[in-house]
Amino acid sequence: MNKCLIVANLKSYQNETEAKNWLESFQKIKELNLDLTQKEIVICPAFTELFSFFSFFSSNNITVRLGAQNVSPFDEGPYTGEVNAKQVKDFAEYVLIGHSERRQNFAETDDMLIKKVAMALKYGLNPIFLVQTQGELVPQDVQVVAYEPVAAIGTGTPDTPENADAVAAVIKSKNNVQVLYGGSVTAENVKSFTAKANIDGVIIGGASLDAEELIKIIQNA
Ligand code: PGA
Repeated sequence: MNKCLIVANLKSYQNETEAKNWLESFQKIKELNLDLTQKEIVICPAFTELFSFFSFFSSNNITVRLGAQNVSPFDEGPYTGEVNAKQVKDFAEYVLIGHSERRQNFAETDDMLIKKVAMALKYGLNPIFLVQTQGELVPQDVQVVAYEPVAAIGTGTPDTPENADAVAAVIKSKNNVQVLYGGSVTAENVKSFTAKANIDGVIIGGASLDAEELIKIIQNA
């Protein structure tokens, strides 16, 4: 059986000082001695903080994985301003691809997302591919899909666990993948999603900015 995947998407928040404060608070997870044998935690900070998170978790012996929130559709080369998969791979094992905020604000198309997935796989990153509906394209060889209905993101109004489970079942019927649910996940509602048969984990945005709330979500998942 796969571990329950708990992915924190810290989005475009946190400068260095804020990231350090977040890490200090998150460190309390060690004192709780949680049983994490069935849970895999993936933290996705901004690119500028990946190195700080990587160093902090390695030197404090905290077993979490790191993810990037985006990756270039290009390989290394003359692409000013892009961060490519080879660079991300130094610090992270996962990468979010296809978040609705990127599709909407940065005009990311299916073609571009397919290229990003190919680059992630080329360098051994595990793409977490985000879809907003059950009908969306999932590129080949993706192993983890996150279903995030746009109306549930950052609104405090999550999808119902029943509907999320039904959507996850449809996605699984078409692709051999694990499916996560994302959209207004909190410590109070997380279990209602992870308890569902077709939901293999969650992705958390807003609530994860509070490290203590994230710890509660991990505990309750
Ligand atoms: P939210 O965001 O938890 O703030 O709704 C989820 C996401 O965008 O990944």
